[in-house]
Amino acid sequence: MTKLKTISMEWTGHSLILIDQRKLPHIEEHVECKSHTEVADAIKKMVVRGAPAIGAAAAFGYVLGVEKFCGNDKRGLKEHMSQVKQELATTRPTAVNLFWALNRMEKLFERLAEDAVSKGEIFENLESEALKIAYEDIETNKSIGRYGAELLPEEAFVITHCNAGALATVDYGTAIGVIRCAKEMGKRVHAYVDETRPYLQGARLTTWELLKLGIDTTLISDNMAGWVLKTRRVDAIIVGADRIAANGDVANKIGTYSLAVLANRHGVPVYVAAPTSTLDLNTPTGKEIPIEERSHREVTHCHTVKIAPEGVKVFNPAFDVTEHELVSAIITEKGVVRPPYRENLRRLFEE
Ligand code: MRU
Repeated sequence: MTKLKTISMEWTGHSLILIDQRKLPHIEEHVECKSHTEVADAIKKMVVRGAPAIGAAAAFGYVLGVEKFCGNDKRGLKEHMSQVKQELATTRPTAVNLFWALNRMEKLFERLAEDAVSKGEIFENLESEALKIAYEDIETNKSIGRYGAELLPEEAFVITHCNAGALATVDYGTAIGVIRCAKEMGKRVHAYVDETRPYLQGARLTTWELLKLGIDTTLISDNMAGWVLKTRRVDAIIVGADRIAANGDVANKIGTYSLAVLANRHGVPVYVAAPTSTLDLNTPTGKEIPIEERSHREVTHCHTVKIAPEGVKVFNPAFDVTEHELVSAIITEKGVVRPPYRENLRRLFEE
């Protein structure tokens, strides 16, 4: 019986089915994960990507981890679950939603294990928690969408980077959630989409989503953003985030920093749309955020076509950090946060 089915993922009760984001937009294929190892592999290989989607997928992976344990002793189960968590946690280091979701699942597991409930009951309870994480994510994104859409004029020209849409979340999206909510409110939104080299999430995924939503969409390569800001009307930059430090520094897809610098030069506001599960108050500033480095092949090749000469040195950081001074507002499900971020972000958790 299907218990959750969205564009990015489906939970069947005994497996997690993911749309294979590596093949979009031309091929719509799905990958079925029947174990936590398969989920970890799907996260690592970017079958599923985007901070909130990674978090939710990992939560379902954790549930599948329980099923794989064949024994009866509680201590063995505890050790096994700690390995399951470890395997899922060592997939992608930057998106904090991954650790947020796994910690939430582990906390519940420890309580259940203390209460000495059966393996079947543990599975059921963890499954409910993972579904809660998933359904909460959808509501959270809709709320982000409503707060963010209020910031846009009746006719709005925006630039977005990477993919922070339904595919990057359980559904609806964060940055794309703002754009689609503005449209639902009757606003006329035009989106410029950075292609997002090297992995091309913008060109492949964001354009696919926006066209399906009937949003006026223009694809540009990343190095055109400055010229677009200089010569065309742009009302806002809207991006997602993988981790936001306590001082408001934002880690997001590589290229976000350059875009924010350009936007500041042109007096265009930079909005970061992200759930509070992306806020990491334990990380004081962006300097402490671990930045994932990915395969050189992503840079030497354009998709499958080799474009660089053999033997060239390559640097491929998957994310960058935009200092909080360059961020005009952080749009969360609890409201729009403006500077000073350290105080105002902390207040979100106290409310
Ligand atoms: O490497 P990716 O594709 O997982 O990176 C995704 C991003 O940088 C997104 O902007 C971010 O995770 C927010 S998704 C709502």
